[in-house]
Amino acid sequence: MGYKEISKSGNENYNLLDYDMARKKFNWWNDAFNKMDWLPGGGLNNAFEAVDRHVINGKGDKLAMIWVGKNEEEEKYTYLELKQKSDNFGSVMRNLGIKRGDKVFIFMDRLPELYISALGILKSGGIIAPLFSAFGPDPVKDRMEDAGARYLITTPELRQKLDDILPQIKTLKNVIIVNKDSRYKDPLQKGDLSYEDLMQSCCEDKFEIEHTTQYDFAIIHYTSGSTGKPKGVLHRHQAVIQQWLTGKLALDFTPEDIYFCTADPGWVTGTSYGILAPWTNGVTQLIYEGGFGAQSWYKLIEKYKVTIWYTAPTAVRLLMRAGGKIIEKFDFSSLRFIGSVGEPLNPEAVVWGNENYGLPIHDNWWQTETGAIMCANFPSMPIRPGSMGRPIPGIEMSVIDENYEPVPVGEIGALAVRPGWPSMMYAYWEKDEMYNSRFKKGWYITGDQASMDEDGYFWFQGRADDVINTAGHLVGPFEVESALIEHPAVAEAGVIGKPDPIAMEIVKAFVTLNPDFKPSKNLSRELIKFSRSKLSAGIAPREIDFVDIMPKTRSGKIMRRLLKARELGLPEGDISTLEED
Ligand code: PRX
Repeated sequence: MGYKEISKSGNENYNLLDYDMARKKFNWWNDAFNKMDWLPGGGLNNAFEAVDRHVINGKGDKLAMIWVGKNEEEEKYTYLELKQKSDNFGSVMRNLGIKRGDKVFIFMDRLPELYISALGILKSGGIIAPLFSAFGPDPVKDRMEDAGARYLITTPELRQKLDDILPQIKTLKNVIIVNKDSRYKDPLQKGDLSYEDLMQSCCEDKFEIEHTTQYDFAIIHYTSGSTGKPKGVLHRHQAVIQQWLTGKLALDFTPEDIYFCTADPGWVTGTSYGILAPWTNGVTQLIYEGGFGAQSWYKLIEKYKVTIWYTAPTAVRLLMRAGGKIIEKFDFSSLRFIGSVGEPLNPEAVVWGNENYGLPIHDNWWQTETGAIMCANFPSMPIRPGSMGRPIPGIEMSVIDENYEPVPVGEIGALAVRPGWPSMMYAYWEKDEMYNSRFKKGWYITGDQASMDEDGYFWFQGRADDVINTAGHLVGPFEVESALIEHPAVAEAGVIGKPDPIAMEIVKAFVTLNPDFKPSKNLSRELIKFSRSKLSAGIAPREIDFVDIMPKTRSGKIMRRLLKARELGLPEGDISTLEED
């Protein structure tokens, strides 16, 4: 494992001081469920726990959100303001007739209105479905159709992207347009509603939060698998219990913290740790509309005196590439904890952080399906660079073999978790068989391969399926293949993840062409452009190779494993099922 443990000393007040004792004594009810305020009159609502309870408990004046726009605009919201605005939007939704369990898609950049509307929807009993604003029309259509979207909240320019697909979403009742700072002169299309008008004409005083229970659905996030289109992972209000707990234990939130999460709510990290964990813990959140930038991120950390920073390995590798020199220009003395998630964090990155920020980077592991952090390098414990840390109190994890029995220490097997944790997904939306297939002999099978060392630290070894992890985002090869074969030139497409030093993997496609088409650089560029416009730059292939024959099994399934082995010059393995003509 090659790297020395890194201990962080000096802070004796971590939220988790004695890991072994905490695990031994941990009780979900006393240590987590009971720490929520619960709705007056009974029930649980995650937005109430995130915002309203702080107001009720006399913390209304505390800063909840500092928003910084792409052009360095700034807005600040106290918990009271966030409550009032989200109540207001809850009323708007209620007036529009929202019913408990209606799905509301939010397709916009990280504007304050994204957060206000998300909280308002949750308070009115709806389910939020946030999507990346970079998505092209195809992924938005697939997801809205699959979920049966009732409402869409978006901005004028993003709405234009969807003009062709929205009429096809038969369940859609209203489109609400956020025209921030009146940026657009003519923001509405026929039938659209204006967010600003609705908010102005509505009625925050009269709003009463929906009496949701912990079992009501709150969020749906789409995630990719090896086969088929992405599936909707449904989470309940109950998930907030573990989000709160892990925010405290794994990210060490205290009410004094200024916290910067670089994830977008289109990704589960951006809701679990960009909305619910921080605000239930009463921290001040810095939200930045812009994307990655070493200079801009460092400037924000310095200016707003960020204390806790949660990011992803690809970003860390880009920061490493930007170098240590630029760090010297900034004051990082406020920073006391850095966390990372989404892909393997290479040990060099942990060490580099320690040398350059004076803080090691703490890796932790979880998935859309787990809803919250499951294992972590905790602030109070030595870090083993390259490992994902140890399970949080209350969670049992293991590495198991094909008979679902734990493998010996140090051996590689399937990473599994004992079901029943509070933030466990409730369903894959309308895909029961697939959901059930994830649970075997008392274990939830994560789909990752891992090993565990003698002290209970888990080490990521790879995925057990064909899903591509590019810059922390899971891409289902099928979604990309489906887009490519819509181009008239393409007969078949096989898509793999190709190792990449920064993004971990990039999406690479192999295609066979229809008879009238010839391979060329131009065609390759055209196919990349075509899939970018349909999907998004993040999902579309970055490289395309033309092949004469697509390797397939006798039953006609494309053998991505073989494409990958050939790409990497590795042994082809078992090819007994290969059908090549
Ligand atoms: O393969 C693992 C990888 O990302 C997957 C989960 O991705 P997603 O559902 O998009 O969840 C994002 C929320 C974190 C995992 O199955 N992954 C996540 N964290 C790590 C990781 N791989 C290695 N190390 C990690 N710390």
